[in-house]
Amino acid sequence: MSNLNNPWDKYQNCTIRDDSNVIEEIQRDCRIPATLWQRSFKNFTINDGNREVFEFLRKRCFLTDKLEDMSEDEKNNNSKPQKGIETPSFITIAGSTGVGKTHLAIAYAKWNILTIESKVLYFQVDTLLDWLKADNFKHYDEHMKKIDDAILLILDDFGSQKDTEWALPKLDQIIDSRYVDNKDLLVTTNLTPAQLKLRTPRIASRLASGYMFSIKDIDHRGAK
Ligand SMILES: Nc1ncnc2c1ncn2[C@@H]1O[C@H](COP(=O)(O)OP(=O)(O)OP(=O)(O)O)[C@@H](O)[C@H]1O
Ligand SMILES: [Mg+2]
Repeated sequence: MSNLNNPWDKYQNCTIRDDSNVIEEIQRDCRIPATLWQRSFKNFTINDGNREVFEFLRKRCFLTDKLEDMSEDEKNNNSKPQKGIETPSFITIAGSTGVGKTHLAIAYAKWNILTIESKVLYFQVDTLLDWLKADNFKHYDEHMKKIDDAILLILDDFGSQKDTEWALPKLDQIIDSRYVDNKDLLVTTNLTPAQLKLRTPRIASRLASGYMFSIKDIDHRGAK
């Protein structure tokens, strides 16, 4: 029988920033791979192709004045935090491979986790589908509840999944449920808006109701 208590309750009384064990546990709970944890706004290089989305995400982060993920220069230049865009919403970051979509998604996730102690869940879309199906759907209810309880859900690499008869309606259900409940969703994708619309019109329509960005940049993997 699944335990349907709120899976995030255990963190309620933790002082997250002071306890590295708790951070590790949260990192695991948020499903952020350890290899991605170091990506932040601070180690992201801004250029003309990514400036718009970078600035947008940073503005959303300025909902509070806790700025520990910023360099001293940035802190000085932003001593008065701007009020961010208050309402929850859908954010889509499109762009070709290696342009920094996952990097920014993780930076945004971390800021939410470490600064405003928000419940975040990060998944590559394929991993999410496998997670729901794991052990012959044994944990399905528990996992769906966790998705539902997340304040911010990040679906990385949307479009890389195999659109099976089960997968597409499930993604549609998850995205529609967040849309109806007005909950934050951040999607990254290699697909253009036109490709999204062609492949999955219902999801494309909901994503288009939010903020859509496209990064135009080189493949930074290739540049290394
Ligand atoms: N503007 C940037 N500044 C610093 N590092 C960057 C930047 N853009 C990308 N990178 C680095 O390049 C690598 C690839 O970036 P990332 O994984 O975010 O790409 P992506 O857009 O998600 O690609 P894909 O579509 O293949 O998933 C990472 O190591 C990331 O940290
Ligand atoms: Mg990526």
